[in-house]
Amino acid sequence: MSDPVITAAAHQVLTALTSDKVPVVKTFFDRVTFTATHVVHDPATRAAAIIDSVMEYDPAAGRTGHHLAQEIVDYVRAHDLKLEWLLETHVHADHLSAAPWIQEQLGGKLAIGADIVRVQDIFGKLFNAGTRFARDGSQFDHLFHDGETFMLGSIPAIALHVPGHTPADMAYVIGDAAFIGDTLFMPDYGTARADFPGGDARALYRSIRRLLSLPARTRLFLCHDYKAPGRDTFAWETTVGAEREHNVHVHDGVGEDEFVAMRTGRDATLSMPGLLMPSVQVNMRGGHLPEAEENGTRYIKIPIDRV
Ligand SMILES: [Fe+2]
Repeated sequence: MSDPVITAAAHQVLTALTSDKVPVVKTFFDRVTFTATHVVHDPATRAAAIIDSVMEYDPAAGRTGHHLAQEIVDYVRAHDLKLEWLLETHVHADHLSAAPWIQEQLGGKLAIGADIVRVQDIFGKLFNAGTRFARDGSQFDHLFHDGETFMLGSIPAIALHVPGHTPADMAYVIGDAAFIGDTLFMPDYGTARADFPGGDARALYRSIRRLLSLPARTRLFLCHDYKAPGRDTFAWETTVGAEREHNVHVHDGVGEDEFVAMRTGRDATLSMPGLLMPSVQVNMRGGHLPEAEENGTRYIKIPIDRV
């Protein structure tokens, strides 16, 4: 379990970076899975990172597509950015990652949180993935630990472990921008679910309070948006201050027990995402499809009566 507050070292990084180190963020929104992919770059050096990319997948046909990923590749090339990182906030259960495909075009290092090994263990067993599926995170180029700092060009950044939605969720704070994955959603929508295997509403609350201890003007970039009653447009950017004041699930004053009761009750009413099975099988492999069988074809499995 992570320390519930931002460490002193992290605060130093964050204080240093919020003044003049302002990264540029461009978001690509997938209206099929409601996922926001963010391309963040340092305007001084053009160093860039892509966070949570999406590969299209038609489950009825078993067909993949890269239209959105191609748009992102085109954007990176058009702006002459140097891709250094492909960052995943977690093993997504609602869309397939396009990170390996983008990496083939643009290079960069593929990274996720170090606790991916726990998720690989859970899903490796569920999908009976066999001994050829390594459960050591080796499908990724780098595994981030809580509090680990790095640079995006001239902009300081830090990785924070924010478990709850899954055991391995990470947030990446780059300059004044935090990419927080499935923790908080827009203030009018609330928070991510915590009922997937390894999920934990209590841990989610603590992770969220940790994120909300960042400076109030920190920009927050979300992984998803589903609109909210009364809102007609998709949105994926807010601030720590706005979440603390207005988040319908977890604004300042909502206690841990109150949140856990709300979150658990709400999760019991939610159905599983349509792309859960393909997403998890692909994303636990760093976005690579399962290995081909003897006939040269790759398959997605569906475990029966298990989830
Ligand atoms: Fe997720």
